Amino acid sequence: MKKLLLVVLALVLTMSVATGAMAAKVGVAMPTQDLQRWNQDGENMKAQLEAAGYEVILTYSNNEVARQVSDIENMILNECDVLVVASIDGSALGTVLSQAKEEGIPIIAYDRLLTDTDAVDYYATFDNYQVGVIQGTYLIDRFDLENTEETFTMEMFGGSPDDNNAYYFFGGAWDLLKPYVDSGKLVVKSGQTEFETIAILGWGTDDAQARMDNLLTAYYSDGIAPDIVLSPNDSLALGITNSLIAAGFTLDEFPVITGQDCDVANTKNIIAGYQAMSVFKDTRTLASQVVEMVSAILEGNEVPVNDTETYDNGVKVVPSFLCDPVFADISNYQELLIDSGYYTIEQLS
Ligand code: BGC
Repeated sequence: MKKLLLVVLALVLTMSVATGAMAAKVGVAMPTQDLQRWNQDGENMKAQLEAAGYEVILTYSNNEVARQVSDIENMILNECDVLVVASIDGSALGTVLSQAKEEGIPIIAYDRLLTDTDAVDYYATFDNYQVGVIQGTYLIDRFDLENTEETFTMEMFGGSPDDNNAYYFFGGAWDLLKPYVDSGKLVVKSGQTEFETIAILGWGTDDAQARMDNLLTAYYSDGIAPDIVLSPNDSLALGITNSLIAAGFTLDEFPVITGQDCDVANTKNIIAGYQAMSVFKDTRTLASQVVEMVSAILEGNEVPVNDTETYDNGVKVVPSFLCDPVFADISNYQELLIDSGYYTIEQLS
């Protein structure tokens, strides 16, 4: 009996030492908890990495670059074996990323590209240009711009200029919409079509609301709202919607507003009719893709990528895996968001 106990004990010890040796540590740096999507991304990453047997250090940096730098420094000090970084400002992490590189720690840029650095090894994201294409195509179809003789008014918003993605979202939509602006079918009353002019630093809902307030006062004081507001994502769409409601516009006077992320508040607005559409980027899909990349790196296998041309970060073309963004509106949200288990009905009611 005593002998058996000893054998069992020895076995358990060997197993735990073995697991201990295997449990690699992954640092996951997320930008902020302010936006719903990053909380989901962080939770999904942690859950899936832990399920794969890894130890996880997960941080959110309150949209403060200095804090994200120190969060990543701590990950290096804590001997993380791989870093996964969703940056606040993609170009501001060069020094700390070089430190990680010197320690031999591989780095995956998560959702947002890390720019101006040779320390980043891989990039996993949704096809950001395609996000804009989905929004632009929706507007063209919705207003039948190809065939109509009518003209429509439009205002445009851009994402944060320190986020590389913002340029792709804008590019995807603008490449499609610009010909209609040039031909006069779409009229931008403010004349503001340059990315630099329409961009909202930090992706803030309140800042988008303030810009929409200004546009309404300056160009729509006749009480007729624009027909279209191109918004790159949901946090801005929310501010735009809030501004229009505060200005007294009712549902039947509302513009067609685009978005991205299918945040809860925005999905509710889609159901209520305030927002026309959003682009769904299933954060579970991105997380599992990144977990596959992490595992491949740690096991010395070939890392799965499907794009080796698009994402030049200023120093190198970063091998990327692009997931597919999906169109979402009132007609398919049930299937996309509820039936798939992304949200419960209660969350959306
Ligand atoms: C992400 C979007 C998000 C935006 C604001 C972008 O980098 O790709 O999904 O809405 O940041 O957080």
